[in-house]
Amino acid sequence: MTENITNTQYSQPMPTPNPDIKSLDRLAMLLENKVAVIYGAGGPIGGAVARAFAREGARVFLAGRTKAKLDKVADEIRSNGGVADTAVVDALDERTVDEYVDAVVEQAEYIDISFNLISYGDVQGPLTEISVEDFLQPITSAMRTQFLTTRAAARHMVKRGSGVILAFGGDGAQTLPGLGGFKVALDAIEGLRRQWACELGRHGIRVVTLKTGGITETLPDNVPGRDEIVAGIQQAALLNWTATLADVGNVAAFVASDLARTMTATEVNISCGALMD
Ligand SMILES: NC(=O)c1ccc[n+]([C@@H]2O[C@H](COP(=O)([O-])OP(=O)(O)OC[C@H]3O[C@@H](n4cnc5c(N)ncnc54)[C@H](OP(=O)(O)O)[C@@H]3O)[C@@H](O)[C@H]2O)c1
Repeated sequence: MTENITNTQYSQPMPTPNPDIKSLDRLAMLLENKVAVIYGAGGPIGGAVARAFAREGARVFLAGRTKAKLDKVADEIRSNGGVADTAVVDALDERTVDEYVDAVVEQAEYIDISFNLISYGDVQGPLTEISVEDFLQPITSAMRTQFLTTRAAARHMVKRGSGVILAFGGDGAQTLPGLGGFKVALDAIEGLRRQWACELGRHGIRVVTLKTGGITETLPDNVPGRDEIVAGIQQAALLNWTATLADVGNVAAFVASDLARTMTATEVNISCGALMD
């Protein structure tokens, strides 16, 4: 169910973004006057992206399943002077997503950025040991939600001739045993991302994925084998460090900004060299 969108601090009409490169050096913040919708904003990656977008001047609409988690992120953003709205939205439900995005546009006038960072309920384990339902769970969830949220945003962005759709994960030949359908889901998201990029480019809409080698901060302390997983992510990196949540937010803010206006139909690799292109 979509709840009423809270916080109506922002009521002034905003100018149409000017893609003229000469205007870019005058931008005080990367995302000034931008409106962004972030699904899964109560999670670690969604929250980091929301904070970075707000810091860079975007008005952020935070959508997710658990209101308390969204409010925590929104309160932090507001206490730093940003503008955030929250709504409980099931990003797997077609009508809910469509109504939510329509409500955001009604309130904010337009939508510039859509970033879906919900979890997919993946059941990880060796393929020989999981059921077909468990295997398909992340694939169908990822396809359903990424399709729905992109379609809902794109219908508004097309009318305006601009917008940015972001995805997270990335594809490629490298994988690990025991991931169930999870890596297959990430590969499928990239197939969908290419199709959207192909269809939306002529409408001025960019579609880009942040490709990750794994964000160690997102691993709960009690996850079995946590130390080995963290060590594996660190050892795979070519650099002496791995991406932090802050790095994810910073790169996402840049890619979503007009400074990255040439980038579409691609992945931005934030794996510190772990995933070689
Ligand atoms: N972390 C990594 O290193 C990594 C690597 C590759 C890909 N990814 C992908 O990146 C995404 C974000 O990762 P994360 O670690 O931040 O995930 P996370 O901790 O699982 O958080 C995801 C958020 O999505 C919300 N959510 C789940 N189902 C939803 C639904 N149907 N509608 C609305 N919101 C929903 C959850 O709400 P509740 O808290 O209320 O359940 C949660 O707050 C995931 O898809 C993950 O698979 C992550």
